[in-house]
Amino acid sequence: MDKMGKPFDVCQFGSEDKQTLIFYVNGKQIRVDNPEPEGTLLQFLRNECQLTGTKLGCAEGGCGACTVMVSSYNKQEDKVLHFSVNACLAPLVSLHGMAVTTVEGIGSTKTRLHVIQEKLAASHGSQCGFCTPGIVMSMYALLRNVPEPSQQQMEKAFEGNLCRCTGYRPILEGFKSFVKAPCAMGENCCRNVKGGHGDSEISSEDKRATPKSLYDLSQEPIFPPQLKLRDFGSEEKHYKGERVEWFRPTDLQTLLKLKQKYPSAKLVCGNTEVGVEVKFKNQLYPLIIAPTHVPELNAIQKENDGIWFGASVSLTRLEQTLQEQIDCVPEQESGVYREIVEMLRWFAGHQIRNVSSMAGNLMTASPISDLNPLYLAAAVKIRLVSAERGLREVKLDEKFFISYRKIAVAEDEILHSIHIPKTCQNEFFAGYKQAHRKEDDIAIVNSGMRVLFEEGTSRVKEIYLAYGGMAPITKMCLKTSQALNGRHWDEDLLEEAIDCLKADLPLENNAPGGMAAYRRTLTISFFYKFYSTVKLSLEKARGDIISIDTSATSPLERGLTRGVQVYEEEKGGTGECWQAVPHKSALLQCTGEAKYIDDLPKYKEELYMALVTSTVAHGKLISIDASEALQYPGVKDFISAKDIPGRNNYGDYIPDDLVFAAEEVTCVGHVIGAILADTQRHAQTAAKKVKVDYEQLPALFTTEDAIAVDSFFEPPMKMWKGDVDKAFSQVQTVINGEIKIGGQEHFYLETHACLCIPQENGEMEVFCSTQNPKLSQISIGAVLNIPAHKVHVRVKRMGGAFGGKESKANVLLLPAAVAARKHGIPVRCMLDRDEDMMITGGRHPMAAKYRVGLDHTSRIHAIDVEMYTNAGNTMDLSSWVLERAMFSSNNSYSFPNMKVQGWTCKTNLPSNTAFRGFGGPQGMFVIEHIMSEIASRLDIPGDKFREMHLCKDGEVTHYGQLLTNCTVEKCWTQVLEQSDYHKRQEKICAYNSKSRWKKKGITIVPTMFGLSFHAPFLNQAGALVHIYTDGSVLVHHGGTEMGQGLFTKMIQVASTALGISANKIHTMETSTAAVPNASQTAASFSSDLNGAAILDACNKLNKRLKPIKTANPDHTWEQLISTAYLSRISLSASGYHSTPGLVGMDWETSKGNPFSYFSYGAAVSEVEIDCLTGDHQVLRSDIVMDVGKSLNPAIDIGQVEGGFVQGYGLFCLEQNKIMSKTGHLLTRGPGAYKIPGFSNIPQEFNVSLLKDAPNVKAVYSSKAIGEPPLFLAASVFFAIKLAIQSARKDAGKDVNFRLDSPCTPERIRMACADTFTDQFMKDSHSPPHSSFFVEP
Ligand SMILES: Cc1cc2nc3c(=O)[nH]c(=O)nc-3n(C[C@H](O)[C@H](O)[C@H](O)COP(=O)(O)OP(=O)(O)OC[C@H]3O[C@@H](n4cnc5c(N)ncnc54)[C@H](O)[C@@H]3O)c2cc1C
Ligand code: FES
Ligand code: FES
Repeated sequence: MDKMGKPFDVCQFGSEDKQTLIFYVNGKQIRVDNPEPEGTLLQFLRNECQLTGTKLGCAEGGCGACTVMVSSYNKQEDKVLHFSVNACLAPLVSLHGMAVTTVEGIGSTKTRLHVIQEKLAASHGSQCGFCTPGIVMSMYALLRNVPEPSQQQMEKAFEGNLCRCTGYRPILEGFKSFVKAPCAMGENCCRNVKGGHGDSEISSEDKRATPKSLYDLSQEPIFPPQLKLRDFGSEEKHYKGERVEWFRPTDLQTLLKLKQKYPSAKLVCGNTEVGVEVKFKNQLYPLIIAPTHVPELNAIQKENDGIWFGASVSLTRLEQTLQEQIDCVPEQESGVYREIVEMLRWFAGHQIRNVSSMAGNLMTASPISDLNPLYLAAAVKIRLVSAERGLREVKLDEKFFISYRKIAVAEDEILHSIHIPKTCQNEFFAGYKQAHRKEDDIAIVNSGMRVLFEEGTSRVKEIYLAYGGMAPITKMCLKTSQALNGRHWDEDLLEEAIDCLKADLPLENNAPGGMAAYRRTLTISFFYKFYSTVKLSLEKARGDIISIDTSATSPLERGLTRGVQVYEEEKGGTGECWQAVPHKSALLQCTGEAKYIDDLPKYKEELYMALVTSTVAHGKLISIDASEALQYPGVKDFISAKDIPGRNNYGDYIPDDLVFAAEEVTCVGHVIGAILADTQRHAQTAAKKVKVDYEQLPALFTTEDAIAVDSFFEPPMKMWKGDVDKAFSQVQTVINGEIKIGGQEHFYLETHACLCIPQENGEMEVFCSTQNPKLSQISIGAVLNIPAHKVHVRVKRMGGAFGGKESKANVLLLPAAVAARKHGIPVRCMLDRDEDMMITGGRHPMAAKYRVGLDHTSRIHAIDVEMYTNAGNTMDLSSWVLERAMFSSNNSYSFPNMKVQGWTCKTNLPSNTAFRGFGGPQGMFVIEHIMSEIASRLDIPGDKFREMHLCKDGEVTHYGQLLTNCTVEKCWTQVLEQSDYHKRQEKICAYNSKSRWKKKGITIVPTMFGLSFHAPFLNQAGALVHIYTDGSVLVHHGGTEMGQGLFTKMIQVASTALGISANKIHTMETSTAAVPNASQTAASFSSDLNGAAILDACNKLNKRLKPIKTANPDHTWEQLISTAYLSRISLSASGYHSTPGLVGMDWETSKGNPFSYFSYGAAVSEVEIDCLTGDHQVLRSDIVMDVGKSLNPAIDIGQVEGGFVQGYGLFCLEQNKIMSKTGHLLTRGPGAYKIPGFSNIPQEFNVSLLKDAPNVKAVYSSKAIGEPPLFLAASVFFAIKLAIQSARKDAGKDVNFRLDSPCTPERIRMACADTFTDQFMKDSHSPPHSSFFVEP
């Protein structure tokens, strides 16, 4: 392929033929002769144009990091259309005649910033920055189409974008400047109401008083005129690549002839289905025909009884056209239109809907297609056409979908158009969808339902019910329809329908997809909703008294996002500490200029590495045959254990991880070898051709599996306080129970990546996305058999890490180092999202058994907990993680007698590792479950019961640490007051008593998090501060920047310490050559450690400068430095800090002082659940967090909100699923694994930093912040539990029940036990989960 620079500069129109691709990028013409059809726009932008602002986060259209804007000219309408697109799925060859705008094309720090970029940076909406360019481009595409959007339009624009750091609120906050009404409260905005919240403190609401949109469309670059002058849309194209040939016909006859000639050719429109199949399902389609530019297939024709849509019409156009019709036809005619538009609200994100076609959705025949159930229920007609037999019209019915992804269409036929009908009087139509996450998620079960009544009656004339997610095909319920025809719409019909649906939609407990009982329950829950909605309409129409509970009819609706952030700043000093300044890289991140590992320029000769991993969970390696892979184009070598010059094993705690498995594999994803090739595509394709033979061995996956056979790494650890056995003999009541919390995938937006560059004299220079450069350096040294001083590890920034890059960077770094050493040339690797999720482990799942004794005052007198973490196949950091879980197992409570024991389970899963909170959230979850359960059993309000047990100064923890400066009660009281907790609790009780199918809940939880590494030796840090002769300062420290703002805070510390503006100070990167032996950036302790080391260095410099300062009091900083230099005073100082007073645990006596101090906080959350579906939404969360005297309140608020939203994912959304038979991870990308999106954050999100709480133990009175707030999201979980309790009460079920984390829709629905769930729980031989998958 041509390279950017020469051939692309100017396009010679008329000289090219069918093989030439012409398009524009950021206003520049690009011409490519013979482009590769397998290439994506993203690859082209990044590799050929060196436009690396557009990021690769998933390659499956699920994260939005690759969002760009594509513009095209519509000749018929003489209109330029702009739409956001996922560059990772857009085939490069689909862009002929279009203009692409990337983040670099709209603004830059070097020229002019775009106002979107400025606003996002200023609102603290970018932390690690990896998601940021995609978010900027989604906003940009919106403003190009709607220069003054409503807030709702603005919030909806990000359905297809994910961010793992910020918690989204600051992004929305920043972009409110562009919307018509800047505040969700409108006239009632606190800025207009005297005495409104935030009055006395600085609130972020106060800072963004921008009444009018800042956006000026006239400033935007124009659409390239050349693309209007020539009719690119009518040009046929034919591209031939290495393995694939691509045809783009522009008239129907040519399309049909091509299909006749090549019946097996794949038609591709948006490539959102096919692209995913090729990338992740190993499919190869050698012949592709793109029907995107055939006029008939793009036509929209309105007729009396409905609308014909051409097959290639995009879902966005479908939505727009139907919406226009809804606004102009009588309501009774638009029933189907409305439900399709409603369904499309929950269908993918804008980027996908903008390109994906109606044909693509129908013809893929996915059993969970969202539109197909609606089409079947509406009895839509379609037209199919072939060269030989011409056009035929077919009604979509039960005969159309034959079997899994097979339809009644001949091989040479294509879909021509789809007719969406109008509804008529007496006809009701509805669509339903339940997914794990409401927005941008595929369905678990979905449905279309239509009923036609005989005129003037409630007697059914016709009824059609179609379901997705219940069989290998979209299924029509014929028996049910038959049974209901002619019946009156009453309770009898409902009962009959339920019985028939059960027969029409059977599902084995081990059915693919699992969740059999839940899915079956949903089928009748949906019907019940339909029944209630229709009944309500009939009763309203007749003027009858409403007989049904209307809470079943409407879905949960989210309002606009709002919130207040309250904090104090200290301005006016010479330094920058205690000020809410933006992240130092924010602008670079917003413009796409910030560089991550894979953005580093390519070396001409460099090789790409693709890992070869085990496909079995446990087995002996019999043979590895790479011969076929080695024949593949571009492949240079296959490397394995025999190529390692030094040690094959590594590890931070005990070295039981292997660079390459040599004899045995112990999990799916275990690294066996690696292919080196000239390009990523060649390496990855060839890696799949390496043949590995195994002798399979028995495997364990769950904690329960491990407990059953005593598969533990170590003997149990134990902590205790008081005499627990004796205490149990004194109590009045004993309660026993078990609970489990699942794991969590880190889902940092930048996957693991590295670049290893061999240098002279055996040196190895390494760029790596790691939180632990020291570990990487030492491990490379050991594996390559070279001393550490020859290994230079450099980290500029990471695109998120959250603990996942503490020890796991070695998984790809060490093979890459071995490969680079062997070949003597640079080797690069960035894991694909699915590989990253499969190989690198996550948060430890934990199961617990407990026994609690209550005294006669209903206080907890004795507590005995056993904890089991699922460590996976190696130890990694699991022992320390378990320790932290045990330390945190009292959360913020004090119990007179407590015993905690912990086991690390050894299983055949990829080894689990550090994750924000490091076991703490799991430990705290267990005790919060206990607190909620006991409060419920004693019928005491949860807040009262918790309050009775809150820790106080002077008390001693169960591991012997004395508590001082304990602020948990302060946080608790303030958040109760701030949230108006008690009043809202009363209102919720009143609401619940009147609402059967929607329930609310409100809960408060505290948090307490010990600060410092509990391995005392890690609590040390070094720094190196250089002052150059021009007065500029370079600060080096051992901490890494992963979005948490460490570099920013450290510059603030140096600026206050030296008494100079932060503008004079810079940090370039973390380097093992500058600061040796740095501890990992982890445990939330890096500001404390590195800040103190920087302070030490700055104090040394101040001391040296003092005489000069005294002698020259009027000197500017620059003059001072110049004089010092001329006076031969050293302007470079190293600093060192080791945290005083830390004593590790004495396990014999269970006494220790592992923590320097504690961080505290409390949160109140209110939720609403839909008891029929298991959906929920977070109505409001209030947080009060003690961060000491915040070094940077904006960054700290960002950590609180980001941590809370990540914790929300842990407790309420994110579920790891392992295939029960094979141990394969099923949840391997954003499509299957759902992290919180923009619309999952609390609708009202208020955060206050506790005032007047300086912390004497840390730098400049601050406190650590990264991990402590995460657990507060458990307030949402326990609020949901209370809402479920109310539903169970109404249904006459036991209100004491076990709810494991995460509370997925499945768990919520099945816990809201009622007559519907009873039908399937009885049938079910297993708990809600089928045996198709297990949770580790
Ligand atoms: C991130 C993401 C989210 C998604 N979310 C959802 C969702 O919420 N709900 C849902 O239902 N789906 C979802 N999908 C699936 C997919 O986007 C849709 O099914 C989409 O409509 C496919 O359209 P396409 O044009 O991109 O299909 P393509 O990938 O271009 O083609 C798909 C299939 O359609 C066939 N085809 C195309 N045109 C014709 C024609 N004229 N005649 C005959 N066959 C034809 C092709 O041969 C091919 O087999 C999602 C996909 C992604 C990647
Ligand atoms: S990289 Fe394209 S959507 Fe994730
Ligand atoms: S800032 Fe969004 S993923 Fe890091």
